Amino acid sequence: MRAVVVGARGEQARDLEGEAYARVEAVAEPMWAALGRHAGAPVRAVAVDAFARHATLSLADPARPGLRLTPAEFEAFVDVIAPVARAIRAELFVRTPDVAGAGPGEARFWDPLFAADAGGWELGRAAPPLVAWFSEHVPKGMQALVPGCGRGHEARLLAALEATVTAIDLSPTAIAQAQAMTPPGLAITFAVQDLFTRIGQRPAFDLVVEHTCFCAIDPARRDDYVTAVADSLRPGGMLVGLFYAHGRTGGPPFTTDRAEVERRFAPRFAIEQLEVAQGSTLIRHRQELFAVMRRR
Ligand SMILES: C[S@@+](CC[C@H](N)C(=O)[O-])C[C@H]1O[C@@H](n2cnc3c(N)ncnc32)[C@H](O)[C@@H]1O
Repeated sequence: MRAVVVGARGEQARDLEGEAYARVEAVAEPMWAALGRHAGAPVRAVAVDAFARHATLSLADPARPGLRLTPAEFEAFVDVIAPVARAIRAELFVRTPDVAGAGPGEARFWDPLFAADAGGWELGRAAPPLVAWFSEHVPKGMQALVPGCGRGHEARLLAALEATVTAIDLSPTAIAQAQAMTPPGLAITFAVQDLFTRIGQRPAFDLVVEHTCFCAIDPARRDDYVTAVADSLRPGGMLVGLFYAHGRTGGPPFTTDRAEVERRFAPRFAIEQLEVAQGSTLIRHRQELFAVMRRR
């Protein structure tokens, strides 16, 4: 099977054979059944845009190359396409080996991943569910904090909507890349800072935006995460974010679920919205929770 994944680093393609083929094929059966019937032709190859959610899945057989789904068809079949996208990506994505002895609480864990452009989380843009939400809830004039900002996609989203943004990350490499990617004129202060150093500091923000920071920290520090973001917010300030609930063991990214988010955040936040995110990228389809919380 010819497999192509389009991700933040462009297109990766491989002919999946042997065990790799068997692993993907095992997951792909429901998709073949659904789309084979739909297309009226056998399917031989698949191309998925792992980081988007539109009609980029194409199926082809030698007789009918280039069959492409319309956006409506894509949405109709996304539940069977998403597991295949994840399986293909798992075959094609090779993560840089972890630095021996380094943990996710250390810059030396993250720096090489940014330097090698090997971060499996990298969307190359702000997460679509956050883009959608902030287009309707414009954060104009707010003081916003983005913890674990990485290359700064969410920071730029907020600043483009006229928030004043402080974007922090443990990794000097991430911050340097974020600064290099940010056009002049956006109100963003990027800083190399450990989120946990914000515990007990003067609350200075109206908004905290979470995107793959909570899942990146050691799960043993999750209550510290809640304290750090709550202490950063003025009373009534909002936490808006995505919580990765992929259900696999290990990490980072470390999974969570709705019950854990409620249990940990409820002491400091009124949870106004917590539901399966709409419009997630294909590989995170139905695996992230969208949350809006207000600091008590
Ligand atoms: C999975 S990456 C996500 C980056 C970015 N949010 C994105 O989605 O593209 C997690 C980021 O959190 C940062 N990080 C981890 N622990 C942190 C902490 N205690 N304080 C600040 N940043 C942290 C890492 O350096 C890394 O850049």
